[in-house]
Amino acid sequence: MRILVTRKLAQNVVEKLKAQYEWDLDIWDFDEPIPRDELLQRVRGVNGILCLLTDKIDAEVLDAAGDSLRIISTMSVGYDHIDIEECKKRSIRVGFTPDVLTDSVADLAMALMLNAGRRIKEASEAAKNGQWTYWRPYWMTGYDLTGSTVGIVGFGRIGKAIAKRLAGFNCKIKYYDVRRDEQAEHELGVEYAELEEVLLTSDFVTLHVAPTKETTNMINKDTLSKMKNTAVLINTSRGSLVNTEDLADALSQKQIFAAALDTVNPEPLPSEHRLYSMSNCLIVPHIASATTETRNKMGLLAADNLVTGLNNQPMPKEINI
Ligand code: DGY
Repeated sequence: MRILVTRKLAQNVVEKLKAQYEWDLDIWDFDEPIPRDELLQRVRGVNGILCLLTDKIDAEVLDAAGDSLRIISTMSVGYDHIDIEECKKRSIRVGFTPDVLTDSVADLAMALMLNAGRRIKEASEAAKNGQWTYWRPYWMTGYDLTGSTVGIVGFGRIGKAIAKRLAGFNCKIKYYDVRRDEQAEHELGVEYAELEEVLLTSDFVTLHVAPTKETTNMINKDTLSKMKNTAVLINTSRGSLVNTEDLADALSQKQIFAAALDTVNPEPLPSEHRLYSMSNCLIVPHIASATTETRNKMGLLAADNLVTGLNNQPMPKEINI
């Protein structure tokens, strides 16, 4: 078996792969993503690829790999970087890493909601810049998460994990999803609403839908104009869900109160982009799953998916294609 691993990964992940003694491992052993030309060259004749969300695995890569390629395992829950239709045509099985990162992503979404609602970035900068002259009763006032209406757009694993956390904040929770989940509504005390209603009535809107053709730019000039002027937008899913320039316009015109983004379009967002200089916009560099424990679990699960897949067994987490 010939395997390509597209990034330097933790030792225990590499050991798991090396334990397959008959495997010939080619590891791009660097912190930087594998350059496209290296990927196209090294993928030739491999049977399996362990990749990351920074690697675009499209028809060109699959063609370069040839008929030998049987398994792709991505160390991510998102798989928009992989052309799943092309994989299906070629009977290539694809593994991913859901569940193990749900709590970390939900925790970060909570941190972003609290941060943006309470103007933490702006307040911290003001303190550092000498604007903290004395205590002022109406300075840096923001919005409480407690008691607010939170709109969860996309009610899968992560959306539900956020609903559980919000129970402690006494929030009214509305969710939108293409599928209604009445059992979850009952268990979590959440209410189903159409997207338009979620946008019109929520104080916090947090995005958890998968990136697809249908969800690309779902947050745009038009949908932003439906949101409350006091609303906070959170994105920990994928940058493609939000039209970046429309959001920047809405924030600068105070059409919404604030945004906090873990994912942006493009990634990385160039450091000179106007969003960074806006006090009501907090951007973190796609770190939602970045805890040591979670990244370890993701790496090990990606390795397990590859090992089981190439041994013709069911993968622990396989994309249903
Ligand atoms: C994923 O795994 O797709 C996430 O975006 C990582 O945080």
